Amino acid sequence: MAYKKRKRRHKTKWNYKRIAIASTGFAAIVVATTVLISVSGKDKSGDSSYNSGIVADAAQNNSDKKDNLNTVPQQTNVHDKQNDTSNNTNAVSNDNVNIPTQNVGIPTQDVNSTNQAENNGMTSKTSKGYSITQVDGITYVDGVLIANKTYALPADYNPGAVDGEVMEAFSVMQNAAAREGLNIYISSGFRSYETQNRLYNNYVAKDGKAEADRYSARAGHSEHQTGLCFDLNSIDDSFAATPEGEWVANHAWEYGFIIRYPKGKEDVTGYMYESWHLRYLGKELAKKVYDSGLCLEEYYGITSQYE
Ligand code: DAL
Ligand code: ZN
Repeated sequence: MAYKKRKRRHKTKWNYKRIAIASTGFAAIVVATTVLISVSGKDKSGDSSYNSGIVADAAQNNSDKKDNLNTVPQQTNVHDKQNDTSNNTNAVSNDNVNIPTQNVGIPTQDVNSTNQAENNGMTSKTSKGYSITQVDGITYVDGVLIANKTYALPADYNPGAVDGEVMEAFSVMQNAAAREGLNIYISSGFRSYETQNRLYNNYVAKDGKAEADRYSARAGHSEHQTGLCFDLNSIDDSFAATPEGEWVANHAWEYGFIIRYPKGKEDVTGYMYESWHLRYLGKELAKKVYDSGLCLEEYYGITSQYE
């Protein structure tokens, strides 16, 4: 009995050893796998200014296309008070942007805008009487962040990704399109100042400055740096006539988006028609702009021209 007991104990001990060894091996495999995944992820994204795989990869794929570049930063949308920053891994960028009024389309925050202006900058009026407020170098018209040829963003304005609220709205829109048998996807989302600079310079080298300025924003002037916009599907004139392009033109406003550079408005927006480029404004404002038949510059009475 004693022997048996000893033997059993011994065996049990040995089993513990085996378990310990096996566990150590398993842990090593897990660690190795984690390291591998993390390394390959880094290789893929390359530019650390991108956070969301989809957006980052797409943006890079588009680097030699004519599109171009708009986005949406983080907004603190006053309408539904949502400030989901889940997409924004880059906490650094938010420091510059954390102003109550911010970004998307936030018409209601006149009080905040006024306070900000007192603290920080100048306030003036558009030709239609809307307030223009500068906060830390960022321009808000009636509380809505504006980036165009007239109004630039600071080079270090970097929300790092398309805003969480915008992504949610996109997701709802994408699902609605899918129910119609249509496939819409983001092909280019957030673009940092540096990325935009690279893209723009490539276009200038390829087409010359005058032509490039018709379809690509100079660094600091692209809406893509805001994190509040994105390009859909094929960044090409042919998109407009696809079932997806037609659906988007008719329904994007229902989800809070407008086609930012509409057909026939190049003289006002400063850019050729881009059927694929959507800007998030929130449902209320998007509907107003859509119903007006005006582009955003006309709606607010602002310009889009380089100095
Ligand atoms: N294609 C738009 C105008 C941009 O470059 O931001
Ligand atoms: Zn775009």
